[in-house]
Amino acid sequence: MVLGIRKYGDPVLETPCEKVVQFATADLKNLVFDMFETMYANKGVGLAAPQVGVLQQVTVIDTSAGEDPDARLVLINPEIVGLEGQQLGEEGCLSIPGFREDVRRAMTARVKAFDVEGKEFEVSGEELLARAMQHEIDHLHGILFLKHLSPLKRDLIRRKISKLVKAGEW
Ligand code: NI
Repeated sequence: MVLGIRKYGDPVLETPCEKVVQFATADLKNLVFDMFETMYANKGVGLAAPQVGVLQQVTVIDTSAGEDPDARLVLINPEIVGLEGQQLGEEGCLSIPGFREDVRRAMTARVKAFDVEGKEFEVSGEELLARAMQHEIDHLHGILFLKHLSPLKRDLIRRKISKLVKAGEW
C-alpha cells in the first residue's frame, strides 16, 4: 500500500524514533513492504519511517530506484560505525518536495543495522549510497537535511515553505 508522506512542518519529522524491539512481526514486514512501495511510487531512493508517520527506527533505501533488486536495503535500528572522506552534492527529500540543495556528507559510510528478521549485519557504501544512508539515519533522529545547510539558506527555504503553506500549496 502506498502511504501518505508527511511534509516539512509536521512535528513527526523532527521527533527522534524509538528502536524496534520486536522483529519478524507481520506489522514490521508490512511496514517495510509499504515503505518500499511508497518510495518507488514517489521516485525516491530512500525513505524513513517517520516520513510515513511511524516513529520507529526503520528505513528503506534503493539507490537503483527499483532497477536492481539487489540494491534494496532495509536498515533497522541503524548505527553509523564509520565515516570517511567528504562529498558535496545535491540532496533532496520526499518530505521537502521541490527543494534541492548541496549538502556536505562523508564519502564513505559504514553502518551496523538489523534486518526485518532481527539479524545484525554491516553494510558499507560510498557516494550516493553513503549519502542516502546518512540522510535516512538522520531522519530517524528527527534531523532533516535542512539542518546541514547554512542558516541563511535554511531560512530562505523555510520562508518559501511558509508562503506555500499560506497559499494552501504545501
Ligand atoms: Ni528525506
